Amino acid sequence: MRVSTGVCLLLLLQVTAVCCNGGVTSTYVRKPYASLDMPIHHFPSPPGFNAPEQVHITQGDHEGRSMIISWVTPLHRSPNVVRYWEAKGNFNNHHKAHAKTTSYRYYNYTSGYIHHATIRRLKHDTEYIYELGKHKHTRRFSFTTPPKVGPDVPYTFGVIGDLGQTYDSNQTFEHYVANPKSQAMLFVGDLSYADDHPFHDSNRWDSWGRFVEKSTAYQPWIWTAGNHELDLAPEIGEITPFKPYLHRYNVPHKASKSTSPLWYSIKRASAYIIVLSSYSAYGKYTPQYNWLKEELPKVNRAETPWLIVLLHSPWYNSNNYHYMEGESMRVMFESWFVKHKVDLVFAGHVHSYERSKRISNVKYNITNGLSTPVSDASAPVYITIGDGGNIEGIADNFTEPQPSYSAFREASFGHAILELKNRTHAYYTWHRNQENEAVAADSTWFYNRYWYPHDEEHSSTPMD
Ligand SMILES: *[C@@H]1O[C@H](CO)[C@@H](O)[C@H](O)[C@H]1NC(C)=O
Ligand SMILES: *[C@@H]1O[C@H](CO)[C@@H](O)[C@H](O)[C@H]1NC(C)=O
Ligand SMILES: *[C@@H]1O[C@H](CO)[C@@H](O)[C@H](O)[C@H]1NC(C)=O
Ligand SMILES: *[C@@H]1O[C@H](CO)[C@@H](O)[C@H](O)[C@H]1NC(C)=O
Ligand SMILES: *[C@@H]1O[C@H](CO)[C@@H](O)[C@H](O)[C@H]1NC(C)=O
Ligand SMILES: [Fe+2]
Repeated sequence: MRVSTGVCLLLLLQVTAVCCNGGVTSTYVRKPYASLDMPIHHFPSPPGFNAPEQVHITQGDHEGRSMIISWVTPLHRSPNVVRYWEAKGNFNNHHKAHAKTTSYRYYNYTSGYIHHATIRRLKHDTEYIYELGKHKHTRRFSFTTPPKVGPDVPYTFGVIGDLGQTYDSNQTFEHYVANPKSQAMLFVGDLSYADDHPFHDSNRWDSWGRFVEKSTAYQPWIWTAGNHELDLAPEIGEITPFKPYLHRYNVPHKASKSTSPLWYSIKRASAYIIVLSSYSAYGKYTPQYNWLKEELPKVNRAETPWLIVLLHSPWYNSNNYHYMEGESMRVMFESWFVKHKVDLVFAGHVHSYERSKRISNVKYNITNGLSTPVSDASAPVYITIGDGGNIEGIADNFTEPQPSYSAFREASFGHAILELKNRTHAYYTWHRNQENEAVAADSTWFYNRYWYPHDEEHSSTPMD
């Protein structure tokens, strides 16, 4: 680890020396060709008749005292019960929750029974054990609830986008899992890439669920929908957008008064997390627009200092791939983000990594010609992290020269870790997948926009 960090520092210094215009364009490129999806037989169902599989959990309310436990039973609807108890207690004191069970058909595919059980009134900062299935086919998992929401509660999130299920995805995922720090995942959309298979083969949703289970069963993944969740295929009669995704992944949208699981918010530790949908209407008067307009003023930074937004299609991205696709949403919402001092915006979609400076482009009003992004201390940092490693490969064609708003960009796969330390400071690292070791290729302190709106760019120490 120590050696690789050194090597990486050297590399960074080198590329800094050759770059100039905007920020840094790293010259490290892992490999330009896409890797294949791992064969489906690498992800068999767990042993046992009708054994529960594809287990995943996510926060189940607004405050972090509930958890939604989801799983699939391939053959029978029952058992659809989760039993759970405090890890320091024992099974004799267990509670039970019944799941809502659903299933769907997609072209000629029929899903297994998909269960979602919300378990409530959990204690904060407490480890729980939970159990699914019956008799000798019982499977046991565990998770730890977050501490009570508060301004100085430290908490560590992972960030991954556009993961898919290739050999590269496996590397990203394994590096993330091997990092013991992270307590929950901020996932910025594009999960399984089932739609890249003939007839959007939903078996690839199942294999993805089994692939990521060793993390998703143990810590909440906060879900964002991407374009690969649309699964819209009128040519085979599939005309309901997000059908597989919405059946398989439940989120606590009602707790934030959202009318759709595609946009919602949660509080967790010192963070307020808002999830938006790049592929649902967001124009004026639409449900998402109205919801966000009401939502932003509700954020109490004295309670949750860190205001973080997740969405799929980036607003600031200097890759030729998907260039400016996020522009229409930026036009609608950017001035709100600046007004409410959003700290960080994470997006995926572009299969590459990029971090912006704090900039905004909110002056333009169609007659004044003021369309250049400018430095703005109230603006978020925009991070594009669609570099999970999916079947479509790397996006290695950046616009030249690097625009002034771009602080760091690199065409390789990886994941990030965001460590909220207290109300003023967060430490962030992006780990590229390199030589089977997750290397921190980009790291920086972020200062909170509400409590400590200082310039991070020209400081390398925490207390600048
Ligand atoms: C679904 O249809 C495709 C194309 O006709 C075929 O290859 C596949 O075997 C079918 N699957 C099922 C479960 O019938
Ligand atoms: C995924 O990565 C892990 C850890 O490196 C390895 O053990 C496993 O064999 C990989 N899976 C596949 C299908 O290559
Ligand atoms: C557009 O912006 C310019 C300069 O910022 C301002 O003078 C003008 O009043 C604005 N026009 C409208 C219609 O708001
Ligand atoms: C990079 O993108 C530009 C703009 O879309 C395109 O003209 C160029 O051919 C691309 N280069 C490569 C190597 O794909
Ligand atoms: C917040 O965290 C930073 C980084 O760990 C530290 O330097 C700073 O002293 C902390 N602030 C307070 C008030 O503890
Ligand atoms: Fe995407």
